[in-house]
Order: sequence, then structure tokens, then C-alpha cells
Amino acid sequence: MSTLGDEVGAPGAKTSPTPDWEATADLVVVGSGVAGLTAALRARELGLSVLGVTKAAVSDSNTRWAQGGVAVVDAGTGDSVAGHVADTLAAGGGLCEEDVVRSIVAGGPAAVARLRARGTTFDRADDGTLARTREGGHSAFRVIHAGGDATGAEVQRALAADVGRKRVPVLERHIAVDTLRTSSGDVGGLLLLDPDGAACVVRARAVLLATGGFGQLYQATSNPEIATGDGLALALRAGAVAADLEFVQFHPTVLYTPGARGRCPLVTEAVRGEGAVLVDAGGARVMPGVHPLGDLAPRDVVSAAITRTMADAGADHVYLDASGIGGFARRFPTVHAACARVGVDPAREPIPVAPAAHFACGGVATSPEGRTGVRGLYAAGEIARTGLHGANRLASNSLLEGLVVGERAAEAVAMDLAAGELAPLTRATPGDAAVAPVANRGLLQRLMSRHAAIGRGASGLAVAASRIAAARRDRALDGHGVVEDAALTLLADVLLAVAAERTESRGCHVRADYPQRDDAGWQRSLRVRLDATGAPVVLTPALASGAA
Ligand code: SIN
Repeated sequence: MSTLGDEVGAPGAKTSPTPDWEATADLVVVGSGVAGLTAALRARELGLSVLGVTKAAVSDSNTRWAQGGVAVVDAGTGDSVAGHVADTLAAGGGLCEEDVVRSIVAGGPAAVARLRARGTTFDRADDGTLARTREGGHSAFRVIHAGGDATGAEVQRALAADVGRKRVPVLERHIAVDTLRTSSGDVGGLLLLDPDGAACVVRARAVLLATGGFGQLYQATSNPEIATGDGLALALRAGAVAADLEFVQFHPTVLYTPGARGRCPLVTEAVRGEGAVLVDAGGARVMPGVHPLGDLAPRDVVSAAITRTMADAGADHVYLDASGIGGFARRFPTVHAACARVGVDPAREPIPVAPAAHFACGGVATSPEGRTGVRGLYAAGEIARTGLHGANRLASNSLLEGLVVGERAAEAVAMDLAAGELAPLTRATPGDAAVAPVANRGLLQRLMSRHAAIGRGASGLAVAASRIAAARRDRALDGHGVVEDAALTLLADVLLAVAAERTESRGCHVRADYPQRDDAGWQRSLRVRLDATGAPVVLTPALASGAA
């Protein structure tokens, strides 16, 4: 195995390679959220030389903003893996892969134990056991949390600190532009841009993408500015198949402020888990009669109900009445602080809320161990579609998936290396992604929010597709912003194509023109890949079965 010298830099090092700078490693992990850092740490434990790459700081990722927690069973509380599996399948609208769900859910307790061993501290109940809350779609109190509603921040802190302690080198503020490919199409490294936009190359036996989702494709999102889908675009360009991309989950409750754009503060579902209820401007409850679980229905159901309520009233938000929750500021300090910044006191007045883009249920099609259909390329976390989420992710299953699959992906790389499955170093060369079509980000966000959010229709999807086609221009991928915009442009194309194809409503995919779920025609995932021109091709079921 090759060794990556510490010349690449310890975590936090601000390495600025020259344009022809090169490094080598067994494994390059792109992304510094829960899946990426867990994978990097596990790979290091397995003796691999690992290089982390992140386009922000190692302490920065979508994980950092997660509030609610990690869904994980504690059999001692009367909960069971079977119960968690059943809730995941029910939320997933018939498209989860049951064996994958069982495998990831069953792997949760051990993965959380290892996360705690890495230094993560979860909140405790009065009796000293881990405190557990409920969120939408859960039939049991199984969501563990940290810092009240700052679970992601604590997970991120602990993993980043462990990466530092273990001296796993991380290139911060470097963005991945393209994969290096061997003549047989295997992935053997990455072309990066450094913080100044200079190109550099990392040769690696394996590349693991853990770059998260693409909430920034929409005007309002719970995701940070870095969630631009670069990894997913890179995987598609490398020949990987993606699946379930039409299922963009809208979180029911981000804090509403007039005209808000970009990252909007989340109001965690755990607030409803602890008794808050959704009401309209007149104080009438939103959820009774909509779903047996009422305000704790799965997220797709709640977001759709809020959207209908807003449309009926001609309003752009509803309210969350949390005034019955004692000690709100102590239990939900992050939400409380966000409310305070806009002059709302949740103890006395309802919190204005609206749905916003939150999570990509689909992504690069992978095995539950993070293997894609492209040799040398792996994916874990939100970027990946393992089959856990189906058409709608169950709350707090995302940190769980990142933990479990992050570890398994590192183990899969080690196994594939040992089995001689991966291309040797030095054979790979950069692909031809130096230029790509790019549309204006603001235009993309407006079109996607208007035509590809909750309540899509054939005509709106077609309008969005043709306006994007007319607006895009080929641009050199020579800076961080243009790499992100190219990714968003490609993902808009792909998402619009699969959303138009699925002529039914299911989970997070709500079609105004096809309001019913159609199990006879559509109880299957849509898989998509790019053709030789870079255009998305939706695979027929026969092709798709052999694709990933
Ligand atoms: C939340 O805290 O409501 C979000 C958690 C999640 O997305 O699973």
C-alpha cells in the first residue's frame, strides 16, 4: 500500500499546492460530515493511508446543522429493531429495500457506541440513561440527542477532534472537480482545485464521496451554503447510476421570516415530539384528520399538509405552538436562539414556520457498504442511495446511516484493496470535465422552487427544463463557485427529468397533476445515468436491474 506522507498536512493545515502538485493515498474521502469523517477514521484504523478533502473547514458540514438526533434502538426501553424497521418502511412509501433497512438499523447501536468512544456526548435523562425523544413517524422514543437540539454540532466536534488526534491529513477548502479514470473506466483519484483555484491531483486506489446533499438547489433550505451536490454531479460524470432523485424531502418547519433565502434555521421535529402543534393564522390545528399520528406524522405528510393549508389561506407560513413545553430554552437552545434573533419567544407566542428543502432521499446508487457500480468509487451519507430511505426518509435516520455506512464503506475499500480489486496507482488520468454547462444559480433556485418543490406538474417541470436549457452556457470549471454551479445545473436537469417521468404522487414526490399513489405502475425506483453527451437518461427497469 502506498503511504501518504504527513507532507500533505495535519488537519487544519492550509496547504496550497502548486498547479502540478500531486499526492497519493489508498483512499481519498471527500466531505467532512458524519459519513466522511467516520469513514476516514475507520480506514485509518484499518491501516489504510487516507487523505480527507473538504471544500470548507473540517469542522464544517451539513452534519453540523442537524438538530434532532440519531435514531437508534435501545432494547432495554422496550423498543426493537423490528419496530424501527417498520417505522422506516412506513415512512418510505413502499420504496425502501427492507434488507438494507434491517441491516443499517441493526448496525445502529454498535455504531453509536463507537461514536461515543470517539468522544461524542449525548444528553442524559434524570435516571442517567441516554435521553430519548420522538420525531415524526417514530412509534417509540428512540432519538438520542446532544446539547438539547445541537446533536449534529456535537457529532461534528467529536469526529473532527478525533481526526485531529489521529493525524488524518485533511485538505481544507479544496473542491473536487473531476475523477481520474483508468482506460477501463475505473476511478483512481481526483482532480481538485485548491483555495486559490489552482489545479492539483490526488492519485488514490479508491475515492469515497461523502459530500452530502443539494439543498442549495432551492431558494429556501435548511442546508448550509456548501450543500451544492458537487459529489453527486462528479459521480454521475464518472458513470455512476443515481436513483430516487425525485424524492427531495422538505422539512416541515424551518423558521419563517419574510423573503428568507438560503439557509433558514431549522425548528427540529423534536419540538413536535415534545408536544408542540401546528396551527394556522387563526389558531386552527393543521394536522388532525390528516394522519393517525397527527403532528408526528412522517415528514412528507406534514410538509404536504402545511403546503395545502398555506395554499388554501393564500399564506406563506403557518405556526408552531410550543407554548406548552416547559423549559423550552434549556431543551431547545438552538431553536430558542434563532427565534430570539427574530424577536419570537416560543414560550409566549407561536413560532412562524414553513417547509424548506432539507434532504435528498435519493443519490448515487450504492450497496449498503457504499460500493457504487464504478470500480474505485464509493459513496456514503446523504449523497448515497442505499435503499434505506425510499420515497421519504424517517426523521433522524440520516446521522444513523452516515455512521453505519461510513464505517462499512471504509471496510469495503480495505476488503477490495486486499482482494486486488482496485486499479493500481498511477494509471488514472483526469477526465474531460474541464468545461461544463452552467446556468445562473439564482435562476435555478427560482425555477426549482416554483416548479419542482411540493406540488409539481408536467407543465411546470417542462417550463423549468426549457428555461434552464436556454440559460446555460459552457464554462471552464476553474473556480469553486463555477464547479458548484455546474453541479447544481446538472442536478436540476436530472431531477426535472425523473420528476417528470414519475406520473404519480409518493412520499416526497407530490404531483399536482397525478395526486394518487400508483403501486401498480410505480412501486419501483427510477435510476438515471448520463449519456455520452452528459444528458440524463432514465433507465428502463430492465436496464436498471443491471446498472448499479
Ligand atoms: C430535525 O431535527 O427535525 C431534523 C432531523 C432530521 O432531518 O432527521
